[in-house]
Amino acid sequence: MDLGLKGRKALVCGASEGIGFASASLLAAEGVNLVLVGRTEEKLAKAAAALKDLHKVEVDYVPADLGQQEGRKAVLFHCSDPDILIHNGGWPRAERDFRKWSNEDWLRAVDLMMLSPIELITGVIDGMAERGFGRIVAVTSRFVKEPSAELALSTSPRLGLSGFITGVARKYASRNVTLNSALPGIIATETQFQHGRDLATAASKSFDEIWAERSSTNSANRFATPEEFASLCVFLCSAHSGFLTGQHILSDGAGYPGVF
Ligand SMILES: NC(=O)c1ccc[n+]([C@@H]2O[C@H](COP(=O)([O-])OP(=O)(O)OC[C@H]3O[C@@H](n4cnc5c(N)ncnc54)[C@H](OP(=O)(O)O)[C@@H]3O)[C@@H](O)[C@H]2O)c1
Repeated sequence: MDLGLKGRKALVCGASEGIGFASASLLAAEGVNLVLVGRTEEKLAKAAAALKDLHKVEVDYVPADLGQQEGRKAVLFHCSDPDILIHNGGWPRAERDFRKWSNEDWLRAVDLMMLSPIELITGVIDGMAERGFGRIVAVTSRFVKEPSAELALSTSPRLGLSGFITGVARKYASRNVTLNSALPGIIATETQFQHGRDLATAASKSFDEIWAERSSTNSANRFATPEEFASLCVFLCSAHSGFLTGQHILSDGAGYPGVF
């Protein structure tokens, strides 16, 4: 299926690996030119070279920390007129006991998981509306639909972001600008491999045991590939998805037990 995106320009965050890189690759395969964001310049340069080589599209990158306002400003300075924005990447590392989270922990989490996407969306959305095309996708998490106390530091700002997305989507739907969030279940990225290794060490178990235990938390009994999840993000960016907006869509191998 031709997604109708050839020649468009996408700003993809957290794009040097994992879900962001997979999304950038699928967009590049559709002929979309890219601006990649991440903190580490070497990783971005490597990702950009690989995508350019493979798909013959224009690929630029901005090293920036999305958890800092300066970083967000640098991104918008470099790329204020994308047709597509995928906000993705990073999560606040902290103890799992919410009673131990400091005010600073909360502010860092809100900065990265809520203010970062809101500032980038605010910076690009009017240009999209003027040009009559815009697709915005925020990658959040399955925990937005099934919150837990241990992960409230990321879930709470992400729920705030979800409300922002639905509210703003209603204002821009008539201008062919859509805003949605995509909620990953468990996706086999390097971050998850590292998490698995850490859990295995802490529990004195093998990595394979931990991976199998975690896989059994959904009905598909496995992790998704980054490309499987990215294909949801990229469909939400397609020319054909103009009526699909303000939604929060889960891809989790039927891990979530509810209907809605
Ligand atoms: N993988 C899953 O199973 C899963 C499940 C639920 C939710 N999610 C969410 O999905 C998103 C992507 O996850 P992922 O597994 O692909 O791996 P990730 O480790 O969250 O993201 C990796 C990418 O994000 C960049 N990044 C991280 N922190 C950043 C920051 N502060 N500013 C700018 N770039 C940053 C990394 O590059 P640098 O390190 O160089 O900055 C890298 O390009 C995350 O927000 C995660 O919480 C993932």
